[in-house]
Order: sequence, then C-alpha cells, then structure tokens
Amino acid sequence: MAEKKLLNQTAIVTGANSGIGEGVAIALGKAGANVVVNYVVDPEAANAVVEKIKSFGSRALAIQADVSKEDQVIKMFQQTIQQFRTVDILVNNAGLQRDSKFHEMTLAQWQFVIDVNLTGQFLCAREAVKEFLRRGIVPERSVACGKIICMSSVHQVIPWAGHANYASSKGGIKMLMETIAQEYGKQKIRVNSICPGAIKTPINTKAWDTPEAYNSLMELIPENRIGVPEDIGKLAVFLASDDSDYISGASIFIDGGMTLFPGFATGG
Ligand code: BGC
Repeated sequence: MAEKKLLNQTAIVTGANSGIGEGVAIALGKAGANVVVNYVVDPEAANAVVEKIKSFGSRALAIQADVSKEDQVIKMFQQTIQQFRTVDILVNNAGLQRDSKFHEMTLAQWQFVIDVNLTGQFLCAREAVKEFLRRGIVPERSVACGKIICMSSVHQVIPWAGHANYASSKGGIKMLMETIAQEYGKQKIRVNSICPGAIKTPINTKAWDTPEAYNSLMELIPENRIGVPEDIGKLAVFLASDDSDYISGASIFIDGGMTLFPGFATGG
C-alpha cells in the first residue's frame, strides 16, 4: 500500500463534487487526509466523493458553501474545525467560466467569475491562515504550519480571447498567492498554485467532446493528450506534503506543454 503522506491532516477542497476538485479530494483522501468535500449544488455527487474517500479508510464530510459568500465560508471552516479539530490544508479549487466576447460581456458575467474565482480564494485563504496561526505547527503531522494550494490555470499567463473575466481572475490569483506566501513564509505557511492546462472535466466539454474539437485542441498540446483530474491530484498531494517543503510561492504548470508556444514548433 502506498505511504499515507497526509495521515491525520485535514484538508478542505472547494468545488470538490466534480472535475479537478473531485480528483484532488480523492487523491488527498487516498494519501490519508481527512477531507472536506465542499460543493454548492449536487449534494449526491459530493456524497459520492465522500463515500469513495471513506473506502480508502480516510474520513470525509460534504459541506455546502458558496465560496464567494463570507458568512458561508466562515461557517464551513467552523464546521470543519468542529468535526476534525483543525485545518492543515486548503485547496482553493472552486472556479467557473462565463464566457463572452469582451465588448458584449455584462457586468454580471464579469462580477460572477471574479466573485467565485478570486474573491472566493481570498475568503477561504483568509480563514485558513487564521486557523493555521491559531494552531501553530504540529510536528507529528507536518513541518509546515499550513499549506494552501490555489487552483490557477495556464491562463494566468496565456491571454484568452472571449474569456477576459476568467483570465483576469487567474492573473489575480497569481498575485494573491504570491503575496500570501511572502507575508506568512516566516510562520511556515506554504502557498503555491497549480496551473492546469486542458483537463477533461465538465468546464471545458466543448473543447474535447467532438473529434474536430479534440483534434484542434491537440494542436495546442505538445504531449498530444488531454489531462485528467488524476494528473492534478498527484501534484496536489505533493504540494500538500512535506516532500515539497522548500516550495513556496510557486506556480506549477501542468499542461502537457501548452505554455510552450506550440505554434513555434514549426513556425517563427
Ligand atoms: C479552462 C479550460 C481550458 C484550459 C486550457 C482552463 O483554465 O478552464 O476551459 O480548456 O484552461 O485552455
């Protein structure tokens, strides 16, 4: 059996009822963590993730909370602490897209994406840091006082026409993550980002569900395959564990080479 690197640690994974969040929650559970499976809609899906994690012998709990709402985030942390005593790992994953041509983008489309993707990460990270500082380091569990993993995207560096709200939220996450990492490094709180490329999940179905779409997507990916949530789960376990103790403020791209300007493989 694989070593349980996160044994007795408690993780909150936001947006964990599907897609990348689900893959990360399952991977952390497999690594021995107690996992809070956060969701907004579809409690059945969240409960299925909980059951899967329990099947590895880890503890898990589904908690409904909209990460863009301060009172709901505070309540989720209170419920987590009540159940598992503390929080060691936050995976700021919840995110969505509301795509539109820029000149047609409504304020509501802009605001909704910024609220969930960026303000949601602020609210959850703030509660996590408060709890990390209150508790301090527990050497039997981890050499760190706490770990935050922000789910960013290749679009924190690749501009994305038709997605100004989404790309802006991911650019914002970069500076949010780096600033928190700088601010609390001395207290041994590690903060890093995962920057996925195209991962096969409900958020980007249109990019892979027909052969035409898939083939045109492959032109953007040197490795010539779409990623899967398990790819991201493995990286999340690494960043949450002491194996990555000297990594802080980093953005790790996990994209099959999408950020390598694939057009230049032949052009230029
Ligand atoms: C987006 C996906 C997209 C991928 C690569 C992600 O951040 O959410 O829709 O397929 O970036 O462009």
